[in-house]
Amino acid sequence: MTATLTTFQLSTGRLRPWREGDEDALSHHASNRHIWNNVRDFFPYPYTPRDAHSWVRSNKSYQQPNNLAIEIEGQAVGNIGFTVKDDIYRYNAEIGYWLSEDYWGRGIMTEAIQVMTDYIFKNFQVNRLFACVLEGNIGSMRVLETAGYQREAILRKAAIKNNQYLDEYIFAILRAEHRGQ
Ligand SMILES: CC(C)(COP(=O)(O)OP(=O)(O)OC[C@H]1O[C@@H](n2cnc3c(N)ncnc32)[C@H](O)[C@@H]1OP(=O)(O)O)[C@@H](O)C(=O)NCCC(=O)NCCS
Repeated sequence: MTATLTTFQLSTGRLRPWREGDEDALSHHASNRHIWNNVRDFFPYPYTPRDAHSWVRSNKSYQQPNNLAIEIEGQAVGNIGFTVKDDIYRYNAEIGYWLSEDYWGRGIMTEAIQVMTDYIFKNFQVNRLFACVLEGNIGSMRVLETAGYQREAILRKAAIKNNQYLDEYIFAILRAEHRGQ
């Protein structure tokens, strides 16, 4: 599969590989405390042009990208991606995503997760896909449930964000549970 084929239409916008030229939109839409509050600390805040350049440089031109830009009205306004784990967890992949606050609540991520889940099970040797959601992130829990992920565990006060211990909710879907497998 070539990178240009790794493009999926959504009702609003599409998923496609990251490419040069996305940097300005990326730093503009990603630099948001409401996004940062719900993701890992390695996600930059503020999200500088330099951060955007290094993200695009390391995510463009893969044959089978792990990260896809969410493009709306021609602009990259979010990301959905995954990381394959190693050792005895090598058939697991963790999915992660964010969307510009300008587009929240329109069903975009609900659709993007379903498309990405299909893409991963079709193209990678992954048996279990999971996501880690911080307590209070109801929108993220809803999109996962709608895509068929099950809530498996609550890791009590496992995370620290803004100097506060937070519960982490684990959601997962197995290949055998995924439609069409
Ligand atoms: C979480 C996030 C990805 C959701 O994307 P989105 O495109 O706005 O989500 P959707 O519109 O597809 O669906 C959101 C669902 O959650 C519901 N929802 C959203 N916020 C809610 C809230 N505070 N309380 C209750 N329900 C809520 C919506 O009603 C919708 O449910 P429905 O399908 O039953 O109608 C987006 O808000 C985001 O990028 N947040 C910051 C980063 C983040 O949290 N990333 C995930 C880390 S695990």
